[in-house]
Amino acid sequence: MNILLLGSGGREHALAWKLAQSPSVEKFYASPGNPGIAHHAECVKLDVSDHAEVILFCGHNDIDLVVIGPEAPLVDGLAESLRTADIFVFGPDKAPAQLEGSKGFTKDLCARADIPTAGYIRATNQADALAALDRFSIPVVIKADGLAAGKGVIIAETREQAEDAVAMMFDGGFGDAGAEVVIEEFLSGEEASFFAITDGKNVIPFGSAQDHKRVGEGDVGPNTGGMGAYSPAPVLTPALQKQVMEQIIQPTVDTLAAEGTAYSGVLFAGLMLTDTGPQLIEYNARFGDPECQVLMMRLQSDLAAIMMATAKGELDQISPPEFDRQSALTVVMAAKGYPGAPEKGGQIQNLAGAEHEGAKVFHAGTAEVDGKLVANGGRVLNVTALGNTTTEAQTTAYTAVDQIEFDSGFCRRDIGWREVAREKVG
Ligand code: AMP
Ligand code: GLY
Repeated sequence: MNILLLGSGGREHALAWKLAQSPSVEKFYASPGNPGIAHHAECVKLDVSDHAEVILFCGHNDIDLVVIGPEAPLVDGLAESLRTADIFVFGPDKAPAQLEGSKGFTKDLCARADIPTAGYIRATNQADALAALDRFSIPVVIKADGLAAGKGVIIAETREQAEDAVAMMFDGGFGDAGAEVVIEEFLSGEEASFFAITDGKNVIPFGSAQDHKRVGEGDVGPNTGGMGAYSPAPVLTPALQKQVMEQIIQPTVDTLAAEGTAYSGVLFAGLMLTDTGPQLIEYNARFGDPECQVLMMRLQSDLAAIMMATAKGELDQISPPEFDRQSALTVVMAAKGYPGAPEKGGQIQNLAGAEHEGAKVFHAGTAEVDGKLVANGGRVLNVTALGNTTTEAQTTAYTAVDQIEFDSGFCRRDIGWREVAREKVG
């Protein structure tokens, strides 16, 4: 089959690497891609906001399947436009992509389907939001409703901070994303990510992971897109995964289907493991970045076949995906300044040396300039390794990181710390 993959980050490089291993993939295009993706696919320039342009490209190049990596085109309805043009696509239509596009949409769906999640209210103006604060104890969580690149969440430790957050959002601090806010109860516990693939009728678990969202070691400092991840997340025991499937994922898929907005693609559930069981923090309508990198490192099945079966509504006709029993861990190397303004243009050398240590280096934000590889974004590389334990995967990943010459880059040195600590205790 001929495939078009959309996106340019480490997630898409991992998807490209895995898709290229599939015996059924013939012509493989990516847009815009990156220098890592270019090893596997022909990179082309398409304006993904111009759905007609993407459809035309698919027609000219006999594309059988389009794989949409990031959330923005999904929320913008690209998958739906492609489906309407009879092109198979991995990723949900516009309405179900609201699971990621609108936090209020997800909370209302949880309320309708009795899915465990923090108590909440939605507010469309500052006065209502301020009045609603009285109904919550401190800390309280204030969220911009729309897409805010993972930055639209504020955990207010005082009433004053909560009022400031509300004012900032209605003042346009997160642009249109904050035109509506969700105020919710603070949940405590350990966070974990759970993935499921669904064609709208059939649902299959697709692995677990843990991310490290803060920029600094020990989980301090500003939030980022994710500084590293590992999979599996043993904290999500088989019993908990069963509970998540039954109480969260299945009712979500069933409710959306019953309401005529069936979800097709990957569902990424951000969970809080509380004393009273797993609760849904948020949904994403795509793979996590960098969680995808560790999932792909462990996936042993044919990704193209899984994605095509999903797109065709035939997930019941393939065997369940198989994952390596080993742990995978990825360390994000970012450009200095991230998550603020990252330093661009810094040279990167010796990725071959890193891979020689047994790691796989995914490109996240790189560019080739005059034959040299340079940083071209906030998160630049994902140095990813397998090991019999998380500790082993961590050791290999950092040995590989230390081979890379990237003076204007940095990384956290403690990725995987929770699991490594648990492994020490035994
Ligand atoms: P989100 O973008 O909804 O995943 O939120 C970003 C981060 O904020 C999550 O990964 C959590 O660490 C935190 N968070 C969001 N909602 C809550 C909540 N209700 N209680 C505690 N922490 C939360
Ligand atoms: N790493 C978090 C995300 O992809 O949303």
